[in-house]
Amino acid sequence: MLRKCCRDAQTSLEDGRQINIKAGENLAWYGGASHFDENLFPRANEFIFDRFLNKKAESVPGYMPFGGGKSICPGRFFARYEIKTCVAMLLRYMEYQFKDVKIVPKQKLTRVGVGIAPPDHDVPIVYRYRVCSH
Ligand code: HEM
Repeated sequence: MLRKCCRDAQTSLEDGRQINIKAGENLAWYGGASHFDENLFPRANEFIFDRFLNKKAESVPGYMPFGGGKSICPGRFFARYEIKTCVAMLLRYMEYQFKDVKIVPKQKLTRVGVGIAPPDHDVPIVYRYRVCSH
């Protein structure tokens, strides 16, 4: 998330340090800093399928995948429906198996801080269309 500072300001970090920001300076907020913070998200590096079940994203402190404030992503509702539709279609029409038993890819380091976090290597799967009865 990028912001331009419009007047001299000060902010304090959690460890007590003060930061002075001058008018005209650019700031970048890196989501991963809080999204992988174990204090906010226990077992932050694990995929826990029901981590956000029955929670509104806005009510989870430190979770801001779509930014915030005036310029919060206007496509966020569309994006969520797209993702859900895609997952539902994949589960409905495809069946697949992971080829490796142990799947723990790390994040591609060259993409840290730039949008979606792709894995550092492909995760091989075998897939085919489901046989539908109708
Ligand atoms: C998973 C998908 C998406 C993610 C994670 C995402 C994330 C973001 C983030 C973090 C911002 C910056 C917000 C800020 O500065 O506070 C943003 C801005 C924006 N997004 Fe998305 N976005 C997604 C999909 C989409 C889609 C599908 C559209 C359009 C159909 C869209 C349109 C925009 C626009 C126009 C802005 C600029 C808003 C502004 O500066 O006022 N995004 N998005």
